[in-house]
Amino acid sequence: MTITTVGVLGLGQMGTGVLQVFAQSGYQVIGVESDQGQLDRAIGSIDKRLSSRVEKGKMPQEDKDNIMGRITVSTKMEDMGDCDLVEEAVPEDMELKKKLFGDLDKICKKETIFGSNTSCLSVTDMAVATNRGDKFLGLHFHNPAPVMRLFEIVRTIMTSEETIETARKFGESLGKTVVVAPDVGGFIVTRLFTPFLLGAVRMLEEGIATREDIDISMKMAVNHPMGPLEVIDFIGLDTELSIAETLYEETKDPKYAPPLLLKKMVTAGWLGRKCGKGFYDYK
Ligand SMILES: NC(=O)c1ccc[n+]([C@@H]2O[C@H](COP(=O)([O-])OP(=O)(O)OC[C@H]3O[C@@H](n4cnc5c(N)ncnc54)[C@H](O)[C@@H]3O)[C@@H](O)[C@H]2O)c1
Repeated sequence: MTITTVGVLGLGQMGTGVLQVFAQSGYQVIGVESDQGQLDRAIGSIDKRLSSRVEKGKMPQEDKDNIMGRITVSTKMEDMGDCDLVEEAVPEDMELKKKLFGDLDKICKKETIFGSNTSCLSVTDMAVATNRGDKFLGLHFHNPAPVMRLFEIVRTIMTSEETIETARKFGESLGKTVVVAPDVGGFIVTRLFTPFLLGAVRMLEEGIATREDIDISMKMAVNHPMGPLEVIDFIGLDTELSIAETLYEETKDPKYAPPLLLKKMVTAGWLGRKCGKGFYDYK
C-alpha cells in the first residue's frame, strides 16, 4: 500500500513532533487536536523550530514554507477520513484510546492503517475496538520525535505481514531505524528503561543521593545526555506513573512498582517540564 496522506490524532508533546516528522518527510499531514488552544501552540512550536533552523542557515526558507504548506490542522476527527495512515498520540488512557479508535474506524476508509504511539498499553486491546485488527499496530516514536532515531513497530497477533512491511517502509522513509517488537507491556524500550527511571526515584526517596548527584552521575559515568530524573521531568510524571502502573499490573514484578514519591508528586500536580515543576523547577 502507498502512503501519501497521514493523520496525527492528539497534538500534545509527542503528536506535535510526529506531525513535524511526517511533514518534513514529504507527506501531506492532517493534525487533529480537541483543544483549540493546544492546536495553536502545536503549530506555533513547529513554526518556531523550523524558523530557528532557517535563521541558523540549516534550512532554506523555501523548505520551511513547503513543510508548513503540507500541514493541515483541525479539531474534528471527521477530517481524517481519507488518510492512508492515522497515528494516535492522545494521553496514555486505554478507555480514551479505545473510544477514539472505535470512532475513527467508522470515519476512515477501510484501507487506512491505524497506529498508536502508546508507551506501554496493550495494542491488542485497542485493536479490538475496531474492525481492522490486521491493519492495526503500535508505532512508537520516542521523545523528541524529530530528534530520536528509533521507530518501534509493535506487532499484535492480528497484525498482517503486509501492514508490518508497509509500516517498516514508512518508518525508513522518515529516516528512522526500525525495530519490530511483540505486544508485551512496554515493548522493548519502555520495558527496559522504566526500572532504571523508577530506581532513580527510589534512590532519591530513600535519601541515598540528591537529585543533582543522581543525574550528574549518570551523565558523567554512562554518558547519558540527560539524568534519569531530568528524563522523567521531560516525559511527564503523570505519563511515567501510568507506564509504571500498567507494567506492574501486567507483570506483578516489583521493579515496575510505582514509587510513593512519584505518586505524591503527580497528586500534587508536579508533572514535570510541561507544568513548570517536577523534580526540578522550570519557572
Ligand atoms: N511524553 C513522552 O515522552 C512519550 C514518549 C513516547 C510515547 N508517548 C506516548 O504518546 C502518547 C501521547 O503522550 P504525550 O506526552 O504527547 O501526551 P500529551 O498529554 O502531551 O498530549 C496528548 C494530547 O492529546 C489531546 N487530546 C485528548 N483527547 C483528544 C481527542 N479526543 N481528540 C484529539 N486530541 C485529544 C490533548 O489535548 C493533548 O494535547 C501517550 O500514549 C504516551 O504514552 C509519550
